[in-house]
Amino acid sequence: MITLQDPIDMHIHLREGEILKNILPFSAKYFSACLAMPNLKIPLTDTNKALDYKKEIQHNAQELNCDRFSPIMSIYLNESITKDELLKAKKADIRILKLYPKGATTGSENGLQEILNQKTLEIFEIAESLDFILSIHGESNGFSLDREFEFGEIFKQIAINFPKLKIIIEHLSDRRSIDLLHQYENIFATITLHHMIMSLDDVIGKGLNPHHFCKPILKTPKDRDAILELALSGDEKVSFGSDSAPHLQSNKLKQNGAAGIFSAPVLLPKLCEIFEKYNKLENLQKFISDNAINIYKLKNIPNKKITLIKEKYKVQDSIRIDNDFIVPFLANEELIWRIKD
Ligand code: NCD
Ligand code: ZN
Repeated sequence: MITLQDPIDMHIHLREGEILKNILPFSAKYFSACLAMPNLKIPLTDTNKALDYKKEIQHNAQELNCDRFSPIMSIYLNESITKDELLKAKKADIRILKLYPKGATTGSENGLQEILNQKTLEIFEIAESLDFILSIHGESNGFSLDREFEFGEIFKQIAINFPKLKIIIEHLSDRRSIDLLHQYENIFATITLHHMIMSLDDVIGKGLNPHHFCKPILKTPKDRDAILELALSGDEKVSFGSDSAPHLQSNKLKQNGAAGIFSAPVLLPKLCEIFEKYNKLENLQKFISDNAINIYKLKNIPNKKITLIKEKYKVQDSIRIDNDFIVPFLANEELIWRIKD
């Protein structure tokens, strides 16, 4: 038996409407808090939009009787953000800005064309002075496997010029990014389950698997192993962020293959399996909760204990949404830990 205190997912796509309603149980029942990403169809570019979305999530959570679940909100960084807007966000307890380079991933059409210009530098300065956290989808538009590495220069520039601004390398996927955590006091990271256990071969090695296609793209076995090792170590600069990103099957097959892995249904059982396999269960609590509470200075975490028991079961093959469906990560595979209801 394993008991986890307040599991927290610091990077999740909960979507809206019918998809939100159908996928929220996987997070709201088993996690105490989740950082909801702002790349919705209408991106959450200001406080009001983020607060409306928070209400939508909370309403759905209440319908599920999940009263002990805190959505943590973020604002989609854009050049029109002002100091007043950030002051307003802060009053509403929103302290995270999410930076998407334009065109880097799903829902990044409204992202930044140029990451470092006069306007963005001004925003970073205000963000630093108001104690915001800057979460970054760090990818260039170069060769797929080098995109995160190439973005490293920008991480460095921001870290050096704004030493009090906490910067998060979201979904760290390239082993060459790990050095940045050690070189710069103000650089942190989130790590996904899928980057800990898969490589590019899981996307293209035995036929094309669209359900393993995500951004940043899965990399080499060496990258995977280094990321796994970092997560297992419980390093205090790293917290868990699933980047669970559901897409309807029709969109996985159309739209040039939508990027995103829907991992929410398997997260805690699979993490227990991995940490147990490598004899690092003592670090799981840090990775799944404690580090996030410290890095993001999270308050009012609802105090929820989640217990997992050793019991085999098969992951469901799909989740129906109207006339379509979503395929979860590890569909039809056997898990050995089960969450006790
Ligand atoms: C995410 C999505 O679908 O919203 N997709 C993904 O591949 N991870 C966006 C993101 O975080 O990159
Ligand atoms: Zn994401």
